[in-house]
Amino acid sequence: MQLLGEICRITPGARHLDLACGKGEMLTQWAARYGSYGVGVDISKVFLTAARDRADELDVTGQVRFIEADAGTYEDEPHSYDIVSCIGAAWIGNGLAGTLTLIRRLLRPGGLALVGDCYWISPPPPEACASLQVPKDSFASLSGTAKLIEDAGYELVEMVLANHDTWDRYVAAQRWTERMATRKSGRPRCVGLAAILGPCTRLLSRVRQGLHRLGCLRSPRVSR
Ligand SMILES: C[S@@+](CC[C@H](N)C(=O)[O-])C[C@H]1O[C@@H](n2cnc3c(N)ncnc32)[C@H](O)[C@@H]1O
Repeated sequence: MQLLGEICRITPGARHLDLACGKGEMLTQWAARYGSYGVGVDISKVFLTAARDRADELDVTGQVRFIEADAGTYEDEPHSYDIVSCIGAAWIGNGLAGTLTLIRRLLRPGGLALVGDCYWISPPPPEACASLQVPKDSFASLSGTAKLIEDAGYELVEMVLANHDTWDRYVAAQRWTERMATRKSGRPRCVGLAAILGPCTRLLSRVRQGLHRLGCLRSPRVSR
């Protein structure tokens, strides 16, 4: 988050729209750190409540607003934002190309689009798509993704790539959250430390499958 903020060179007073903002961590942290103003759009009431609580905690309630809406059809003043972001929710525009089109309507001329999506490290075998429950053509390769961004009329100015370790941390942390929500009380918990010497354990095979086949194009920075 901090790396992205530095890369985006956010200035005080910058207007930032975050589509599918989740718990608003990026908007609120950047508002606190850089003095930006933000609007977050998400469909989850639970996440929006958490986002408002976070804004309160960071003392930026006067700088950020959170709106419950479908980000794919969200209307706002055209070309009015300095930064428009969508991280990890490119389905709002039926894929990265459509999401870049949505973003363009709201971005001021010369503004900065910040998008996060996955890319294939190598052509996926059918079982990888099945385990991740995605069609083969949902994502492109890294160079295919860069081309897609340029073809959408943007100038690609920077990319931040997740590596296996950071992607592993992201997926593993989600597992903890899911398990805590459904766990039977009283059962002891376990954190496993695994060295990757041989075949993956059955427990983590689905995650590993994704790990080997998917990189995560966390935040290409594009401007137009
Ligand atoms: C993987 S999370 C990413 C959240 C946030 N961008 C981040 O990077 O932490 C996906 C988010 O998209 C939201 N979402 C899914 N479909 C949406 C839609 N059509 N409109 C707005 N938000 C949506 C979910 O509620 C969730 O907060």
